[in-house]
Amino acid sequence: MKAYGSLVLFLGFLVLVKVQAGVLDNRIDQFELDESAGEESCNLPDDLRQEIKGYQSIVNKIIGRIVDGEFAGQTWNSLAELVDTFGARLSGSEQLEKAIDYVVDQMQHDQLENVHTENATVPHWVRGYESAQLVAPFKKNLALLGLGTSVGTPRGGIIADVIAVESFKEFEALTVEQVKGKIVVFVPQWESYGKTVVYRSKGASVASKKGAVATLIRSVTPFSIGSPHTGGQDYDEGVKKIPSACITVEDAEMILRKYRRGDRLTIHLEMEDRNLEPFVSRNTIGELVGTTYTNSSVVVVSGHLDSWDVGVGAMDDGGGALISWKALTFLKAMGLRAKRTIRAILWTGEEEGLWGGRAYKEEHKENEKKEFNFFFESDIGTFEPRGLDFTGNKDAECIFREIVKLMSPINATDFETPSDGGPDISHWTTRGFPGASLMNKNEKYFWFHHSAGDSMAVEDPKTLDKCAALWAAAAYVVADLSISMPKDVVD
Ligand SMILES: *[C@@H]1O[C@H](CO)[C@@H](O)[C@H](O)[C@H]1NC(C)=O
Ligand SMILES: [Zn+2]
Repeated sequence: MKAYGSLVLFLGFLVLVKVQAGVLDNRIDQFELDESAGEESCNLPDDLRQEIKGYQSIVNKIIGRIVDGEFAGQTWNSLAELVDTFGARLSGSEQLEKAIDYVVDQMQHDQLENVHTENATVPHWVRGYESAQLVAPFKKNLALLGLGTSVGTPRGGIIADVIAVESFKEFEALTVEQVKGKIVVFVPQWESYGKTVVYRSKGASVASKKGAVATLIRSVTPFSIGSPHTGGQDYDEGVKKIPSACITVEDAEMILRKYRRGDRLTIHLEMEDRNLEPFVSRNTIGELVGTTYTNSSVVVVSGHLDSWDVGVGAMDDGGGALISWKALTFLKAMGLRAKRTIRAILWTGEEEGLWGGRAYKEEHKENEKKEFNFFFESDIGTFEPRGLDFTGNKDAECIFREIVKLMSPINATDFETPSDGGPDISHWTTRGFPGASLMNKNEKYFWFHHSAGDSMAVEDPKTLDKCAALWAAAAYVVADLSISMPKDVVD
């Protein structure tokens, strides 16, 4: 770690911030720290501040070429070609592996360097025939999507009465006698993704412990026009694995209302989903090799190439993957080469549980402190960019605050910490490596997330250009600075 004497004074402050952050949900909007106070506590050496300011003209040039110049529209077009050619890219699928081969080919065509893949073993879950019908007190088909790793039902399905609850707390009050043999419908109100997703990931385990035969979960979304949203789930060690699926907000809330009025509801559920043997997939990598450092102090820009099997994963995370790849393509075409290597990594197996990132971390563990300087990840949308959110120590934060100010030409100068995004890079950022996630006006992200609605219609060409420009410019500056980003890595 390169520490500045003047900054060491603020370590106490940093510890205080960390403690406060730890007891809260890790979202900055619930964090009582005055942001300007965060910045006022920075005391960067003047020459470093001036050095960063000196990048303004190059940042302007990068942004100009990508947003208004010859690269305008290319990111969206490449994304459209990718998703129109391969469709959805579920872990373990041939479509994902073909998309990986295609990206390798295209990266070479773009003259990226050291283009290759690295193996990563991922779960191989496949969706089979799925159907749910309310059979009493009246007949209604229920749109559903099984959850990743869910087992199927026995052939012919199961017919069972329903118990509907709004929360785990409400479920706790029920006895095994009441739950046994029932389909449990969890209907949690949307609070935030981080808070509500626990019903999707743990609902089956919670219900199974009291003898439920299946679970149906209100889709984890703040908005719905009748479409279910899938996602991952996992079974606690030792629980009987029962089928688990998401149903629409509309159906879930109707079931809860009727149940609370005392109606006896019966559902016929059939799912042929299966878990196969783990599959060897690949992370996809391309570089722009540094002038001074080749295989050390690497700046990673990343997004995941895999997706769920519904929709085409244009938003989650085609956009993040494409801006990471194209940031290098555009810098290379501009003849810009930083002191440090910029490495684009398109992760695999993110949706089933961050498997691509995990495999990469293990494979690169030995020299990781030397190898990695900084991690960028875009996986919470590529809507209108607002800025960057950051995770890392105070010294790195103060440097990064100055870098974000350079993004004024696209009005993307917001800075927040700690970061609220970056699942794959959390393999490093939770251990003290500095990293950043793309902040964007993603209020509608969870409208489309993991649903049939995740298509090119969500992505806007001009907006994607701005995201790619921000990505390229920020990665270039971090990679070219005279100093490496300070870090405090815990082993
Ligand atoms: C990657 O996986 C493939 C397929 O399982 C295997 O043939 C190959 O040897 C693996 N490569 C490395 C470097 O482990
Ligand atoms: Zn994602």
